[in-house]
Amino acid sequence: MKAQFKVHKAVFPVAGLGTRFLPATKASPKEMLAVVDKPLIQYAVEEAYAAGIREMIFVTGRNKRAIEDHFDTAYELEAELVTSGKDELMALLRSIKPDDMDCVYVRQPRALGLGHAVLCAERLVRDEPFAVLLADDLMIGDPPIMQQMTGLFGKHQCSILAVQEVPRNQTNRYGIVKGQAISSDLVNIEGLIEKPHPSVAPSNLAVAGRYILTPAIFDRIREQPRGAGGEIQLTDGIAGLLGNEPVLAYRYHGRRYDCGSKLGLLQASVVLGETHPELGREFAAWLKDRQKLSQAYIEDSLYWRQYDRQ
Ligand code: G1P
Repeated sequence: MKAQFKVHKAVFPVAGLGTRFLPATKASPKEMLAVVDKPLIQYAVEEAYAAGIREMIFVTGRNKRAIEDHFDTAYELEAELVTSGKDELMALLRSIKPDDMDCVYVRQPRALGLGHAVLCAERLVRDEPFAVLLADDLMIGDPPIMQQMTGLFGKHQCSILAVQEVPRNQTNRYGIVKGQAISSDLVNIEGLIEKPHPSVAPSNLAVAGRYILTPAIFDRIREQPRGAGGEIQLTDGIAGLLGNEPVLAYRYHGRRYDCGSKLGLLQASVVLGETHPELGREFAAWLKDRQKLSQAYIEDSLYWRQYDRQ
């Protein structure tokens, strides 16, 4: 790796089929599912941008055009907004892709796993450290999680994975790390395994969908056999780095919503709805009210009429 102190590029693997959200994802990408008023992919891109990253690399697949369109100019819509003098909405649209941000797209021709998706970005990343953000993990932190991680990268100059503790019986949903704590929030990783059964999991420290990786990962992924679920796993590639270079696990400060599941998407919608600048107050009051009322009353149509748009 070249002497390099900053992360300039982020990879967003967005080729997944999103079968858990069918029928919503039959014709539109799961990354375009909205939490309140913003698609999941935009939350992830904003997080990378806040960390100083300006080159966004999307590893896409069939039926993912909506993502490209979202970060492109929408001529007809903009012309309409200009004509009707809706300046605020216009500014909102323009803010989706700031002028100093580049979006590039590469296809993952077959769904062979997360490691394979990252490998598809190799020609665009080249010989640089880079970030990986999984958009269905919606991560909220102050500062944003990726910014916390790029800060650490500046200091340690090695691969860093965001981790969190999960209930023991859920280790089979995550990459699980084992290692030695070197501070209250950093662990020097000694082993890494994808989706172990709780009975064999080396810990309950799970990888969340944020990574900073050195470019050495590409050779490791290329050489490794297929792993859990018959897929080319990113976790196995990272495990391949161990022994050659340090890899740190970082207990990030913030919260993760698993928006790859319906429950997580609903939870994120409620929490971000309650704090939304425009409707947060009204929504929070409604939620509170609703808990107090009897089911029969809620089911009465008069109750709902008060919320009808005037
Ligand atoms: C992926 C990774 C896994 C990680 C998880 C975080 O799994 O393979 O190691 O813990 O993301 O969300 P997936 O959720 O795509 O099955």
